[in-house]
Amino acid sequence: MRRKLAAGNWKMNGTKASLTELSAMATAADGAAEVLICPPATLIALAADTTPDIAIGGQDCHTAASGAHTGDLSAAQLADAGASYVILGHSERRADHGESDAQVRDKTRAAWEAGLTAVVCVGETLEQREHANTLDIIGGQLAGSIPDGATAHRLVVAYEPVWAIGTGKVPTLDQIAEVHGFIRARLERRFGAGVGRSTRILYGGSVKPSNAVEIFAVPNVDGALVGGASLKATDFGPIIEALN
Ligand code: G3P
Repeated sequence: MRRKLAAGNWKMNGTKASLTELSAMATAADGAAEVLICPPATLIALAADTTPDIAIGGQDCHTAASGAHTGDLSAAQLADAGASYVILGHSERRADHGESDAQVRDKTRAAWEAGLTAVVCVGETLEQREHANTLDIIGGQLAGSIPDGATAHRLVVAYEPVWAIGTGKVPTLDQIAEVHGFIRARLERRFGAGVGRSTRILYGGSVKPSNAVEIFAVPNVDGALVGGASLKATDFGPIIEALN
């Protein structure tokens, strides 16, 4: 009942020339899994016209619908450019821009008002994991970053351990299962069994063609949020296929 989702976060990578990679992903994207690419904002409108089988998303949005916010983008502008998703609360934005759970919650609300599905990111640092309070951290981020009124259509949760992002390190399958099961239970408790069971939970952090199959077999892993390996069709294609 939860459609698998292969999501690519291009971060601050890609130029118009990169759109050929999207075209090359089209065959893999024509399967059972939903495919999403979140390119830099400069490419959203062009990417949205590239292949109908790939959904397009932003990587952040402002809390306001419009106004005097130089350099920012509203959720409505992302939607106008052709986005249907937006990543919010990525650990790089939490670290580089000091985004708090409350800001992520307000951005999520703004995304919903614009009709976007929010991919809300949570994840612990290595220090937090070593002090054995990972689930407390994740629980706090979920409670603080997701507004009331979530539905499975409007929300995707991405679990991205900070120490696994771009490092080649991946949690054990048991560790992934523990956190994803915890997130599922928290969603069910807060939003009810229907919403909780039908909301997709993605794993992110050093997902590659070589580890995708085993990660996707973990209970409550409904797909992946992929960084580096989403930039090239030769890498992302096999990851999509592992979900098809
Ligand atoms: O949002 C995806 C990302 O943070 C994971 O990056 O390069 O480890 O797949 P990467």
